[in-house]
Amino acid sequence: MLRSILRSSTSNASRRGFASGASPERKVAILGAAGGIGQPLSLLMKLNPLVTRLALYDIAGTPGVAADVSHINTGSEVVGYMGDENLGKALEGSDVVIIPAGVPRKPGMTRDDLFNINAGIVKSLCTAIAKYCPNVGTSVAQMALVNMISNPVNSTVPIAAEVFKKAGTYDEKRLFGVTTLDVVRAKTFYAGKAKVNVAEVNVPVVGGHAGITILPLFSQATPKANLSDDEIVALTKRTQDGGTEVVEAKAGKGSATLSMAYAGAVFADACLKGLNGAPDVVECSFVQSTVTELPFFASKVRIGKNGVDEVLGLGALSDFEKEGLEKLKPELKASIEKGIKFAHQN
Ligand code: NAI
Repeated sequence: MLRSILRSSTSNASRRGFASGASPERKVAILGAAGGIGQPLSLLMKLNPLVTRLALYDIAGTPGVAADVSHINTGSEVVGYMGDENLGKALEGSDVVIIPAGVPRKPGMTRDDLFNINAGIVKSLCTAIAKYCPNVGTSVAQMALVNMISNPVNSTVPIAAEVFKKAGTYDEKRLFGVTTLDVVRAKTFYAGKAKVNVAEVNVPVVGGHAGITILPLFSQATPKANLSDDEIVALTKRTQDGGTEVVEAKAGKGSATLSMAYAGAVFADACLKGLNGAPDVVECSFVQSTVTELPFFASKVRIGKNGVDEVLGLGALSDFEKEGLEKLKPELKASIEKGIKFAHQN
């Protein structure tokens, strides 16, 4: 993607010079922009030609990150905002708000172990989004598209939904849990095992974003490959444990940041394309859903001018995937309920 971003960045810069207004002005805010994910994500969003304004917010460190990123000769304007008193300015007028704020895992921790700290951070940031983000258009107040990266995503997305409901700004079409890294991993691992060109691989990943709730659907992977049942089981486990593989390799220095920034940039780019009316923008995401009996679920989602255009169904599952789906439901349900309960109690 980096290469295509760089290429399109050049062509877009010249296009802007000659025919202004070719694509709409778009403001992207990154909350947690000075962190391990936030910094490379800021870089990648600065390279995205669809972004005209980039607001980098964190509780510390954003002046440096913003000064650094702003020197890159792409079209967008970059502004750093630091501290709670500047959060409103960072958010105002945003079309997409990406949230990678919060603590990452250390070895031995599950994503749920992060709940106590990150739930509060997400709640306060979403309260501010509800206050500052509705872009009051001609008749309806439109919320920015929120891309939730902070873990545990299975709980932070329901927390955000409850905060927005309470503020009267909830639009289920505009809230996305970012599960793209699971897709990125599934594609990479599948391509390695199937010996196919990774650039051509597609694998839907459904369910949630933690351990066994991550369910890659390798039976639907393309290009098709003749993998054995054992190979599918191993690929599934590696995808589910991909985050832990990185946490252990980093040995106490955090979790995935670079691959996550890439995944976050891919997903935000899809949101911008959808907002701009590009046809057939489909990514997997953890959204409000009726695909199963659970109120939130990750599956393929078509993104359009108002956010979620359509939540796509699961398609045909193998017996192994059907079993995985039933196994993940109780854990995912509990994580969703934990988020909802937190939002109401705190
Ligand atoms: P990090 O600790 O390097 O950075 C987090 C940043 O958030 C810091 O700069 C910190 O100052 C900032 N922050 C803390 N409280 C804040 C607040 N109230 N407002 C704004 N910023 C605030 O952590 P890292 O590695 O960047 O991870 C961030 C989050 O992303 C973690 O929750 C992690 O678990 C999650 N993550 C999610 C993935 C996914 O697939 N969805 C994959 C990898 C990580």
